[in-house]
Amino acid sequence: MFDLSSFPRKRMRRMRRDDFSRRLMRETVLTPADLILPVFVLDGSNREEAVASMPGVKRMTLDKLHATAEDCLKLGVPALALFPVIDAPLKSLNAEEAYNPKGLVPRAVTELKARFPELGIITDIALDPYTSHGQDGLIDETGYVLNDETIAVLTRQAECHAAAGADVVAPSDMMDGRIHAVREALDAAGHIHTRILAYSAKYASSFYGPFRDAVGSAANLGKGNKYTYQMDPANSDEALWEVGLDLQEGADMVMIKPGMPYLDIVRRVKETYQAPTMVYQVSGEYAMLKAAAQNGWLDERACVLEALLGFKRAGADAVLTYFALDAARWLREA
Ligand code: PBG
Repeated sequence: MFDLSSFPRKRMRRMRRDDFSRRLMRETVLTPADLILPVFVLDGSNREEAVASMPGVKRMTLDKLHATAEDCLKLGVPALALFPVIDAPLKSLNAEEAYNPKGLVPRAVTELKARFPELGIITDIALDPYTSHGQDGLIDETGYVLNDETIAVLTRQAECHAAAGADVVAPSDMMDGRIHAVREALDAAGHIHTRILAYSAKYASSFYGPFRDAVGSAANLGKGNKYTYQMDPANSDEALWEVGLDLQEGADMVMIKPGMPYLDIVRRVKETYQAPTMVYQVSGEYAMLKAAAQNGWLDERACVLEALLGFKRAGADAVLTYFALDAARWLREA
C-alpha cells in the first residue's frame, strides 16, 4: 500500500498532532440527542428507593420523576423509557395488570405527556413486571412461555399504552410475530402515529441482573431463565433474521441488547438494513462501569463517554443508557 523504502513518508501521527486536525478528521460525534434515559417508576407519591446493584439509579414515584423529565428537556435528551415496579399483589399468572387503563404505566404516560409534551415517552411491552413467575409471557403447566397467547395480551398492553399517549411502544418480549400483531392492533384502534421500537436482537444475557433487582422480578423468576425466547449469545446471523422480520412486520426502529458485548451485531444490523438502530447499554454494563469508578479504578466520565461513542461508531443511532443525564451534562461541559 505504501512505499516503505522511504519509510516513514506517510506519518499517521501528523493529523493527530494538534487539536484542530484531530477535530477535522473526527468521524463520530456523540450528542445528548443520541441518548434515551430508562427510568424505574414506583406507585404512590413522594418516594425514592436506591437500587443497590445500580449505584446512583433510583426507583421513584411519578411526582419525583417530574424533575428527571425536566432535566431531560433541559439537557437535550429526547426521550424517556418507562419501566414500572409493580406491587406484588398486582402480579398474577396471566398478567391482567399489564393492560389496566388505570395502571401505573398509563397513568405515568398521561401525566408526563400533559406536563412535558415535547419529551418522547417510550413504554416497555412485555409481561415480566406483571407475572407472578417473572417470565415475559404467559406460561403453560410446564413453565414454557406460550407465544400466541402472550401476543394476545401484549397487543392489549400496547393499545392501552398508546391510548394513554405513549409516543413509542417497545416490545421487549421476543415472542414471534408480535410486531405485526401490535401494529395491526394499534392501527385498528386509530393509533397510526404510535411508533414501534422493536427489541429485535435481545439476547438471553446475564447482564440484566441488576435490572431484575430494580423492577423486583428477580425473586419471581427465581432459578428460571429466558433461554426459550431470548437469543443465544453465540449467534449473529439469527440477529439479522430477527431484525429483518421485525422490519417487515412494521417496526419503526430496531434494538440490539445488551450493548458492549454485542457491538458486532450493531454493526451488522446497521450495514444490512440502514434502519434506525438503537442499542441498550444494560443494567449490568452500568453496574460494571459504576463499580470500577467508585473504586477509583476507572475515570467514570471518560470511560462512559468512550463506551457511548463506541456504540455510535458501531452504527447505533441512539443509546438507551442509565448514564443519559450525566453524559448529556458532560457533553455540554466539553
Ligand atoms: C424485560 C426487560 C429486561 C430488560 C429490559 N426489559 C430484562 C429481562 O429481559 O430479563 C433489561 C434492561 C437492563 O438490564 O438494563 N422485558
